[in-house]
Amino acid sequence: KRRNDYLRSMSQTLSTEQLNRIADHYGTPVYVYHAEKITQQFSRLTEAFASSDSRFFYACKALTNINILKHIRSLGCNVDCSSVNEVHLAVKAGFDPKNILYTSNGIAFSEIEEAAGQGVNINIDSLSNLEKFGRRYGGTYPVGIRLRPNIMAGGNLKISTGHEKSKFGIPVEQLNAILALVEKYDLRIAGLHIHTGSEIRDVEVFMKVADIFFELAPHFKDLVYLDLGGGFKVPYKENETGTDIELLGQKVAEVLNKLQQVYGRRLQAWFEPGKFLVSEAGYFITQVNVLKESATAAFAGVNSGFNHLIRPMFYESYHRITNISNPEGDKKHYAVVGNICETDTFAWDRELNEVREGDFLVFHNAGAYGFEMGSNYNSRYLPAQVLVKDGAHHLIRKRDVFDDLLRNQVEVL
Ligand code: LLP
Repeated sequence: KRRNDYLRSMSQTLSTEQLNRIADHYGTPVYVYHAEKITQQFSRLTEAFASSDSRFFYACKALTNINILKHIRSLGCNVDCSSVNEVHLAVKAGFDPKNILYTSNGIAFSEIEEAAGQGVNINIDSLSNLEKFGRRYGGTYPVGIRLRPNIMAGGNLKISTGHEKSKFGIPVEQLNAILALVEKYDLRIAGLHIHTGSEIRDVEVFMKVADIFFELAPHFKDLVYLDLGGGFKVPYKENETGTDIELLGQKVAEVLNKLQQVYGRRLQAWFEPGKFLVSEAGYFITQVNVLKESATAAFAGVNSGFNHLIRPMFYESYHRITNISNPEGDKKHYAVVGNICETDTFAWDRELNEVREGDFLVFHNAGAYGFEMGSNYNSRYLPAQVLVKDGAHHLIRKRDVFDDLLRNQVEVL
């Protein structure tokens, strides 16, 4: 029965009517987020990991709107930040500093000092900053270190972060240099962190990371947490499967139990999911400006482009597209393209219900790294954002207006 409840709740989506109403009301292009879907994803995590001592930090780089942050906080989820500005946003959203984690890379030490000033958890990703940290704080501020495990994993090379050519983390083979700094400055290493990449379907990748932690943990006497990063895969295509979170939860519980024997104390597992929490909760609604027929393709040109959703062009990512204006229309094939003066093709050959000019096309799974990676390229406006919660819809970010394009420009001529 529980499984059935679960499957039913998995289909929690916004209906075609709801999306049409929102598009009519706010205009397009518009991002729409469904709070209950985020809640559901978080519940799935907490249920799957109920038997292990795990903590979840939402990787807010995926979507930082303050209302999303507040909703996530209200669920009892923590937050992971990738810049000090995200730390400030998290504080503004009401997160307690002890529930904020700052995992950055390549940043100036001044950002680490600024984050430490807020009292948040910090993972450091270079020997250079670890040394500066030691000089400044010694053992007075417990800190985590981000390691590069030399593991290739993730949906594509651009989102793989743990391999041996990756810039992220301190390479594990530099353990002795880390230990020398720990000793020199009497550092209290509270956590070890490894994030191998995004869209990791295979639970075994996390187990490989756990193996590395098994080897390394005994070298650090003050550990509180082992941070396995984010990267849980969500299905983007029809019939695709995501990471088996339930299996991962079981395995992590086993790992923590075994580790207790080796380490002598119980450690926590920390995770930093971004896509898992917000990807499926997001819809990006566009409108068809122009239909163009050619011998090779029928183009459906929408009022957007890679200035609003860059994932298909940057990573060749697949986003499901539906025509919510003509859900019963005959199936036809289209190249779905944007209106930017570049090749901004969302899909080269996609079967859609017949598309007419003026129809609303929805990009699914657009909650993570959609709006967030948007820009004003071609002097176009960033879209509006709308939150659906408890059946009501709320504007949570206004569409840009012309003045926004000039806001920070200084006219000197
Ligand atoms: N933790 C760290 C240290 C990360 O670098 C990332 C993602 C995450 C957690 C969250 O990963 P997630 O659970 O969202 O997969 N823009 C790309 C994804 C880049 C992810 C960058 N770091 C995309 O749209 O596919």
